[in-house]
Amino acid sequence: MPDREAVLDPRTEDVVDLLLLQHARIEEQFLLVTGATGEARKQAFDDLVRLLAVHETAEEELIHPLSRTLGDNDAMVEDRLAEERLAKETLTELIDAGVDAEGFDTGLLLLRTSVLEHARHEERYEFPHLRAHVPAERLQRLATAFAAAEKVAPTRPHPGAESAKANIAGGPILAVVDRVRDAVRRAADGKG
Ligand SMILES: [Fe+2]
Ligand SMILES: [Fe+2]
Repeated sequence: MPDREAVLDPRTEDVVDLLLLQHARIEEQFLLVTGATGEARKQAFDDLVRLLAVHETAEEELIHPLSRTLGDNDAMVEDRLAEERLAKETLTELIDAGVDAEGFDTGLLLLRTSVLEHARHEERYEFPHLRAHVPAERLQRLATAFAAAEKVAPTRPHPGAESAKANIAGGPILAVVDRVRDAVRRAADGKG
């Protein structure tokens, strides 16, 4: 796995770069879940849950509110938020059911479709506004807040026999979201 901290170095990236990178990483992670079985599948799904929690929470806290300030974007932002809510509901159902549940594959495919369509919509209708209207320096500062969010999200335990019950997907996803939200707000207050 690539070194996330190095990839998310805010000195060289702005927040749109990071968002695009995270979209690509999320898409890749879906493939890893699909292709894995047993314990490896549980761990791959945990990683996916973490990636999605960090990414969508940070977007909800930083990106969509910023888009609202860039002109007549309220309807577009509402559409993106509705997509995120739908994906979160499907994700929560998958977490509750577990990777071994009957119907998990179907649910995962559904989640994949809605998450990737949502990402394409952001790339087409939202991110170009950011690039066009937000000063480059501000976009770079936002990247710092995103990196902060990544750092506080709990990582899964080291692979091993004991880890099966201690994974993120077996724990409270809302706790992950809360921690990310706090970190993003602190970073945005300090730098924004
Ligand atoms: Fe999003
Ligand atoms: Fe996104």
